[in-house]
Amino acid sequence: MSITGVYKGLDNVPIKETVISTIDGEKGKLYYVGYSVEELAEKSNYEEVSFLLLHKRLPTGEELKDFSNKLMKERTIPNEIWSILEKTPPGAPLMDKLKAGVDLLGLFDGEAEKTDKAARLSTAIRIISKIATLVAGVYRLKKGLQPLEPDPGLNHASNFLYMATGKKPNALESKIMDVTFILHAEHELPASSTAALVVASTLSDLYSAVSAGIGALKGPLHGGANERALEMLMSIKTPEEAEQYVLRELASKRKIMGFGHRVYKTFDPRALIFKSYLEQLSEMRKDRKLLEIANRIESVMIRELGSKLIYPNIDLYSGPVFNLLGLDKEIFTPIFAAARSVGWIAHILEYWEDNRLIRPRAVYIGPGPRRYVPVDER
Ligand code: SDX
Repeated sequence: MSITGVYKGLDNVPIKETVISTIDGEKGKLYYVGYSVEELAEKSNYEEVSFLLLHKRLPTGEELKDFSNKLMKERTIPNEIWSILEKTPPGAPLMDKLKAGVDLLGLFDGEAEKTDKAARLSTAIRIISKIATLVAGVYRLKKGLQPLEPDPGLNHASNFLYMATGKKPNALESKIMDVTFILHAEHELPASSTAALVVASTLSDLYSAVSAGIGALKGPLHGGANERALEMLMSIKTPEEAEQYVLRELASKRKIMGFGHRVYKTFDPRALIFKSYLEQLSEMRKDRKLLEIANRIESVMIRELGSKLIYPNIDLYSGPVFNLLGLDKEIFTPIFAAARSVGWIAHILEYWEDNRLIRPRAVYIGPGPRRYVPVDER
């Protein structure tokens, strides 16, 4: 088959069919197996959404109870893994510690190489459950604290927030953390899902594929933007200053974190949902500073770049929400990774149903064939 040209960044290049999710970039809509994220955020929970993504349908009551139970039972991490992670350099990035943790989980999981459908599904559940415990644990280790034991009385997201902060969340905090996991669970084929899929397409194992996804998500153009967006918001003292900041950055051709998207050409629907929870949380904390500065940056950016279809993405408002939940910014992208593990795995399981090694080409623009010249003649 002849090469037709270079699709830089794989812009708009589909590499698989899927029923798992779809994005309407023009209308700013995101659907998981046909259900809008707005409805899922309001009425569902991360356990049910994970079942939906893995099985491509909503569970019955019995199935949801059984699936939630399986997730809850798999939350613990072998002590040998904590003791290895404890020896990693304290200053190393949390995403690197998380990646190492996932690789270690694979090393300690005797079923990691099993390839039958049932084994792959139980490995998926182990990864989705344990990755949240890993994030909370490496976060606490970095603070010189011991990882906390999971609380079987809390759902996945609330238990994560408890294990990270040491405090049992209230109703609003629990709801916000659960919505956080739902909104970060899946997003078709961004760089991280594509990286995970490439590894899986070689018939490597799920742990290696998830580890590749974490590596891709770490980058500031992808998952790392939530941390940098909050740094930006916290560096601005007043909403008035926000305008000057944006104009200065744009004049220097620097990108504003939390804005723009390869697919959305209007508001990222997840940003709008996070914004509504930020308003509630700011009210509860009696602290509206980050909200007001984010709002001002949003209005200036839309005035300046709306015509170029640059609008807020999920990362503009997720950072301030995490901050008001009492989480330090270095855990933001690891939270994204923990939630997105189910999306990565859902696409892999679907692709394995009709696997094909992913092997693109390059257009050669180098010199034609020529003879080797010995070094003493050059
Ligand atoms: C996520 O893909 C996904 O689904 C990812 C994600 C998911 O859920 O998995 O949605 C999560 O990663 C959201 C994106 C988080 N990243 C950021 O917020 C970083 C800042 N955003 C930009 O780097 C950028 O918008 C991208 C990378 C997100 C998308 O950019 P593209 O599609 O590669 O477009 P581009 O960089 O070629 O920009 C096109 C034009 C350029 O201007 P010109 O050179 O044409 O004059 O738009 C400008 C860019 O300079 N532009 C921006 C901008 N984003 C694009 N200008 C200022 N600030 C920005 N944020």
